[in-house]
Order: sequence, then C-alpha cells, then structure tokens
Amino acid sequence: MIFTQVDQRTRHFIAGLPKAELHVHIEGTLTPTRRWEIAARNGIRLPYADITALTASMDFEAPDAPTYLQKFLAAYYEGIEVLRTPEDFRDLTVDYLANCRDERVLYAELSFDPQAHTSRGVALAAVMEGLAEGRRIGRQELGVETNLILCINRDRPVDTAVSALTEARKFRDQIMGIGLDSDELYNPPAKFRAVYDLARSEGYRLTAHCDVDQPATRENIRQCLDILKVERIDHGINAIEDPALVDEARARGITFTTCPTWRQIDTAPRRVDRIRKMYDQGLKVTLNTDDPGLFASGTMGKMLPAVMVAGGFTFAEMAQLMINAFEGAWIDDGLRHALLGRTREYMLDWGNDK
Ligand code: HPA
Ligand code: ZN
Repeated sequence: MIFTQVDQRTRHFIAGLPKAELHVHIEGTLTPTRRWEIAARNGIRLPYADITALTASMDFEAPDAPTYLQKFLAAYYEGIEVLRTPEDFRDLTVDYLANCRDERVLYAELSFDPQAHTSRGVALAAVMEGLAEGRRIGRQELGVETNLILCINRDRPVDTAVSALTEARKFRDQIMGIGLDSDELYNPPAKFRAVYDLARSEGYRLTAHCDVDQPATRENIRQCLDILKVERIDHGINAIEDPALVDEARARGITFTTCPTWRQIDTAPRRVDRIRKMYDQGLKVTLNTDDPGLFASGTMGKMLPAVMVAGGFTFAEMAQLMINAFEGAWIDDGLRHALLGRTREYMLDWGNDK
C-alpha cells in the first residue's frame, strides 16, 4: 500500500544510496522464518501451528503509547528465547548483514542484550562467539563493517548491569559502546548513573534509549545529557517539545537515532513529522530500523523510500541523513572519510545523471 506511492526514481535513488544504521537490535532482526528454523534445530516446540500463526502472534499493537512499548517488548523477548548457541547468533547476524549488503548499508552498529541471554542460561561467551563469527563473515564476505553496542536492560536490577559490564571485560576489544534499552517506565536514566560512570572509565562510547512518548520522556532526555553524559540518544524525538533541550543537544552535537518504523496496522511511517522537525531545527538526526524482524517497516531499503515520501525529504536531504549517521558513527577517521567519500561520489553521479 505504501509502496504504490513511491515512484521509480525515488526507489532507484534509495537503492543505491550508501547507508548506515546506528540503532538496530540484532535480536530484533530475527524474522519469523529464521525463528521457526532455529527453534526446530534446537528442539524447541513453539506454541504455534506454523510460521503464519507465529507471525500473527507478534501482534503488539496497543492504543496507548506506554503499554505499546511493553507489549512490543513481550513479543521481542518471547522471540529471542530460541537463541541458544553460537551458531544461532552467527546466523542471525549473517542474515542481517547479507541484507545490508543487498541494500547498500555499508556500516551498522549492532545493539545486543547480554542480560536477556545470560538470565536464561545462555553463556555470554556463546553470544560473543556467534556475533564475532557473524561480523567476520560480514566484513570479509559481505563487505559490511560493524561495531557492537552492549545494551543494559533498564528494567533489571542495577547490580545485574554492573555484572554484565564486569563479565564483558573479557570481550572488551569487541564492544564499542554501551546503551540502555527495554522498559523505560519507572526506570529512568539516573538509575544507571554508576553503571555509566563505570563504562566511561573503561573507555566505552555512550548512548541510551529515550523511547517515543514515554511518561517523563523529556526529563529522561535531560538525565541522559546531564547524568549519563551520553553522546547519542536512541529515539529522543520528544526533545523537540522543549526548546532548551533542542538548544543543548544542538550545541553538544548529540546524534539522535530515530526510528520511523511502522506496524502491520499502520498505513504509513510513524513519527515522520516530528523527525522532519528535528531535522529542520538543525539536530543531528539519523534514520534507523530498530527491530526490522518485528516491524512491518522492515529493513532500511524497504523503510527509507516511504519515509522519504512521507517526510517530504529531498534527495539531498536523504543523503544528509546518511551523512549524519556516518558522522555520528563510532568509527575511526579513516573509515569515516571513506564512507563519506562514497556518499559524495554517489551524489555527484546522481547530479550528473539528471
Ligand atoms: N525500545 C526499548 N527496548 C528495546 C527496543 C526498543 O525499541 N528494541 C529492543 N529492545
Ligand atoms: Zn531500540
């Protein structure tokens, strides 16, 4: 339905545009088909007759925003229970990165949730081994560069977050940054001050979720800036409701990883007007898929043409949104320079092609 509104030229432009995404949960890339297959090989009987019934079960719509996040998270955590072995994490990662190659996503920062695995008896070493092998295949065979973000589950006790960071020391060289995800209600950023102080002292880059339209969302964004001292905010769209937050985020060059994702019941990308406003106010906005295995919006190549049309973004503005991602990425200057060069070349060719 959405795609009939997107003309051929727009689709062609997006297909070739060099892309990055900074906000994608690798566990949230698990598709119903892959989930079904991994369950079968691990001897897990899912309580659904077939893949169609399984897909239908991922119905996390709710009329009001706060319970929407909780319903979504219930579907997300149910889904990842099938992930048990290094091979599961490898296959998950390779599926996602093969699609990145096909859609010209040249760089991706993959969030992962160690506590959601260790708490069900899956060793961190198994998770890390699978992710490392998937990323190696991504780099060597698919030409996609990645980094990892260890996300703290904010709805779990703080001491388990500290344990997760302590255990992650063995894999320090594989992990670029720390994030904060899961249920935001009653779990404000300030709860994790000590965890972020520890992470900062260990040299991690720092981001945190401030999910859209959550209660206390502006206060949470303020805490991320003042207490956690993050350099990026995942989502953070409600910042535009507070001019002081906008000024400060702009002055500090905070990158916002927004997600105009949509669900089966939606007929168009969500949040686009507000993302457009952030962009027009000079905030460093990026576009991301968050959980492409669960959302109808899917992967970057599918999502972006509809977002471009819905938001009235020009070709140059779409390129700038990708430049924002390359600039906000946690990569060295050599890779950044190369990626920005690819965008420049693409836009020159596109301009010459008219
Ligand atoms: N928000 C919070 N936690 C999450 C999300 C999200 O969008 N996806 C996976 N964990
Ligand atoms: Zn997220």
